Amino acid sequence: MKILVIGGAGYVGSHMLKRFQDTNHEVEVLDNLSTGFETNCLDFPLHKCDLSNREQVYSILKNKFDLVMHFASFINVGESYINPQKYYENNVINTLNLLNCMVDLKILNFVFSSTAAVYGEPKSNLVSEIHPMTPVNPYGHTKAIVENILKNYDNAYGLKSISLRYFNACGAHSDGTIGERHDPETHLIPLILQAASGRKNKITIYGDDYPTKDGTCVRDYIHVMDLAEAHLLALDRLFQLQLSDVYNIGNNEGFSVKEIIGVAKKITNKKIDIEIQSRRKGDPAELIADNQKIKLELNWTAKHSDLDKIISSAWQWEQKLLTFNQ
Ligand code: UFG
Repeated sequence: MKILVIGGAGYVGSHMLKRFQDTNHEVEVLDNLSTGFETNCLDFPLHKCDLSNREQVYSILKNKFDLVMHFASFINVGESYINPQKYYENNVINTLNLLNCMVDLKILNFVFSSTAAVYGEPKSNLVSEIHPMTPVNPYGHTKAIVENILKNYDNAYGLKSISLRYFNACGAHSDGTIGERHDPETHLIPLILQAASGRKNKITIYGDDYPTKDGTCVRDYIHVMDLAEAHLLALDRLFQLQLSDVYNIGNNEGFSVKEIIGVAKKITNKKIDIEIQSRRKGDPAELIADNQKIKLELNWTAKHSDLDKIISSAWQWEQKLLTFNQ
């Protein structure tokens, strides 16, 4: 199959490219390199292009792709409140540009990186795919809008898609060559590890008064290699059944911020200073995946998402990043 990976230079996209190295798929990458790294694209052909450039996107897509995977979006919830325009323009309008080019060229298979943020404040302990999409922040809204567009585009134009709703992506590749590298970093696990390595002087906990086991937010942490595997299974399913669908990718288990810090202390054997601050806007208290659907229908299991493994791999990566920054 000939596949275009959009956003392959980024965190999840680069783990997908690594996974593709062990397959027979013919893969090319489209990325504007605004936040990603060219070296993450390995030996796959890279088209340096911004999705807002419809003509260029169209001419790249003309190279007869069977399927497009779309990893390129802005993901910072806090920033999406401050600069919603940036989020709606890139995550919605640019994605619409892409979909319109695909429909024009009859490329009708699409795998989309969605998010657990589409659920908003969950109404049950475990969130399944039938939970309504009621996002509480602009970032979540952008992804919910695209999911709705995808339903309409299937009905009208036969564009078949699988949307994968990631819970908290984390960890680094087991071979130590790639990992999470956002600038600025806002995600919990890399920030804790920066506090352990000395790149930061402490970790700030945003709120310890949530109605959770220890007052701090609970999340479902899923290793990025398990995410990549789910995408591979999703594209096989899409090609075989030609049915649009949505799947959670999570571990069915929640850990609090304090629990994550506890495990990080154990793995790193370092002192990690903590500061408690007030709640961050747009953070649900608890977000845990019901992952039955992806297990049953895609035969997916999480192989790397044991918390010790996640944090060990991220710690190995943090030590590599330290050498980049010296
Ligand atoms: N947190 C802290 N201190 C920090 C950073 C985070 O206490 O310095 C807390 C947050 O308040 C939250 C938890 O740690 O409760 C996890 O925060 P992250 O920023 O790591 O991740 P989020 O849960 O906010 O969001 C992530 C992705 C989103 C995605 C969401 C889906 O960044 O894109 O998971 O669950 F939508």
